[in-house]
Amino acid sequence: MNVNEDLMEKGLQKIEWAENWMKILAEIRKRWEKEKPLKGIKITATLHVEAKTATLIKTLVAGGAKVSVAACNPETTQDDVAEALRKYARVYAKRGMSEEEYWESIRRALDIEPDIIIDDGGDTHYLVHAELPELAKDIIGGTEETTTGVKRLFAMQKEGILKYPVVLVNEARMKYLFDNRYGTGESTIFGIMNATNLCLSGKTIVVCGYGWCGRGIAFKAKGMGANVIVCEVDPIRACEAIMDGFHVMRLIDAVKHADFVITATGNIKVVRKEHFLAAKDGCIFANAGHFNVEVWISDLESISIKKRKLRYFGLPYNDYLIEEFTLKNGKKLYLLGKGRLVNLVCGQGHPVEVMDLSFSLQALSVEWLIKNKGKLKKQLYRVPREIDELVAKLKLKTLKVEIDELTEEQKRYLESWKLEI
Ligand code: ADE
Repeated sequence: MNVNEDLMEKGLQKIEWAENWMKILAEIRKRWEKEKPLKGIKITATLHVEAKTATLIKTLVAGGAKVSVAACNPETTQDDVAEALRKYARVYAKRGMSEEEYWESIRRALDIEPDIIIDDGGDTHYLVHAELPELAKDIIGGTEETTTGVKRLFAMQKEGILKYPVVLVNEARMKYLFDNRYGTGESTIFGIMNATNLCLSGKTIVVCGYGWCGRGIAFKAKGMGANVIVCEVDPIRACEAIMDGFHVMRLIDAVKHADFVITATGNIKVVRKEHFLAAKDGCIFANAGHFNVEVWISDLESISIKKRKLRYFGLPYNDYLIEEFTLKNGKKLYLLGKGRLVNLVCGQGHPVEVMDLSFSLQALSVEWLIKNKGKLKKQLYRVPREIDELVAKLKLKTLKVEIDELTEEQKRYLESWKLEI
């Protein structure tokens, strides 16, 4: 077996494992294999190239689509999965790409002149609008997986430059309530434990941001027995964090106690020079947000006299997962996964069942875009309520859980303003 065959075999096994547990996507695939709703459709999917993503790609192909795949992050590809995925799609992804290689791989994936773009983080929507606008005229629509991508798309819509309809998968309840909260919660904790092999119980963990991702991380960290401090700029969310039982304070105060600082804000320069200087010796920094801008690495570098890499991991990482920074006073600070998404760079991404929900929403949103071709405006769309509820119903079905239904009398009561029954 040559190196590529060996990689492919490993990747196929990972995909098979994920597929076994992605029951909702399996139901969609069964229907699509018969109906072929994506027949003749070309899709560029820019996603984290790992086993759950491969299951989505296989589903799109089963539905009749021709697919090209690019990575939505230079450091999150699992090379064995990328190799295996070549059986089903054109793949332009490799772990550890340079910035140039990263953008070039998205350009190559766009060479198929897609009808649909599936994106995670907004880089492909950005590239089409900023550099390849001629592609947009044939694009039926796009989807967006994550909060950061949604934020960018809203900015594009506000400027009136959006060139095709985009479904905001991230805004579906079956997405953010599960993927952002439980998915990010579990996978972030896993990534940190995998990279460090340290105990979280009894440690002080600072979580920056109390959106759905931050909430998930804070609760899972608390569940591991850590003392959790939340830092949040929104006063309402800060109150929520207090009522949820967390300490809330400014980051500059929190870092003095922190063993770990985890960012999940979607913003830039959240942890910067003043915070590194105030942090205690041995503090470990990790980012759970989409881009590597939350922990401001150049500030950390500027106050360090020495930097070295620690803890090399083989497949699927093939890299060092920790960087050690020594400051002038001898204090050592650590950064996980180069400040990129710690759950994917140091872990394996969200748990399989969680991605089953998110990618089922993706698949059904793609089908909805195709069904509504020519009827949609160049604007952002929420995932239709029926799709959100269908995914919930399918989830319950796979769990063999039955729920009650409203009686006709209860429905009438809910719609009535009068007191008599
Ligand atoms: N696996 C595939 N896509 C992912 C995402 N956006 N977040 C976490 N894990 C993933």
